[in-house]
Amino acid sequence: MRVLGIETSCDETAVSVVENGSMILSNVIYSQEALHQKFGGVFPELASRNHLEAFLPVLEKALEEANVSLSSIDLIAVANKPGLMGSLLIGVTAAKALSFALKKPLVAVNHIEAHLYASLMQAERTFPALGLVISGGHTTLYQILDEITYIPISQTVDDAVGEAFDKVARLLDLPYPGGPSIEKLAKEGNEAKYPFKESHVKENPFAFSFSGLKTQVLYAIRERELSEEEKKDLAASFQETALRTVVRITLQAAEELGASALYVGGGVSANSRLRTLFAEKKRESLKIFWPPRGLSVDNAVMIAGLGYHLYKKNGGADPLELTAEPTSRIKSLSFREGFDRICVKTVN
Ligand code: KG4
Ligand code: ZN
Repeated sequence: MRVLGIETSCDETAVSVVENGSMILSNVIYSQEALHQKFGGVFPELASRNHLEAFLPVLEKALEEANVSLSSIDLIAVANKPGLMGSLLIGVTAAKALSFALKKPLVAVNHIEAHLYASLMQAERTFPALGLVISGGHTTLYQILDEITYIPISQTVDDAVGEAFDKVARLLDLPYPGGPSIEKLAKEGNEAKYPFKESHVKENPFAFSFSGLKTQVLYAIRERELSEEEKKDLAASFQETALRTVVRITLQAAEELGASALYVGGGVSANSRLRTLFAEKKRESLKIFWPPRGLSVDNAVMIAGLGYHLYKKNGGADPLELTAEPTSRIKSLSFREGFDRICVKTVN
């Protein structure tokens, strides 16, 4: 089955063609990074306008790279949640129009679950497993029962870890997106220079919190001009503390669940220090799976891949009924409400 994947939830316009859930025929990603750089985050209105301009050229390129025609597509999969409303609407509307015009089935995919599918896609599958999504909008642990069943266990009570990287990067005057900028600078810094404290959420040992760490960095800077050395040390100390929190809580959850596999997804999973820390701290029997190269950040391959399994199990959506859903607050979780930051690369 040949699936056309569509992803426009935030600031990447992405289209892919994937066969049978894992064979990648094309993966085209147009990033709006340059457009949003001067705002230090995603400007939602500009993002949706830019998706509109980019969509057709990206679709054409994805078909061309896959060497297939639209009429040979069997299923259209689209990310319909969560994300920026205006951005999601472009992809969802395009997918509905294609489905209707081509008379092909349509399936809706949750962007966050798709991030986990990225690391499952071409890997050995051991269920039940633990899933960790670390992106700009989410820091969430899941129990994974099979390819399509992701049960949330815990999440961040305030900032997502990628959001913390982006905000600290702004404090240090580093270019957007903050994660890669901080990782690069941290390589030359001393992570022990600033003894930042890890946060612990009293009510839930598996919940994450990063806004306190961001405030510690702010206090360490105290509105003065920083030397290059100080910036490097701050980047390294912040990164080390944030990533150690992620690793500690995730491995604790893996123990609690008796998981033998951990699948990691989302933009922060591209960080090489994180991979080293997990490798150092994990027990030997725990296998950790990372997204294939290029599939950590937002892409449409993960949408097409997960869409294939969802369609096989549950069938498709009605192209006249499908809607975009900007928030996906995980209501079943027992702690603080109000964490529903979706695309925190926003301007505030
Ligand atoms: O998954 P993603 O592309 O988009 C969302 O769904 O949010 O993740 C983007 C986030 C941004 O916050 C970015 O700063 C972070 O992932 N990121 C990184 C790295 N690469 C991207 N954070 C730390 N280290 C990296 N190498
Ligand atoms: Zn994402």
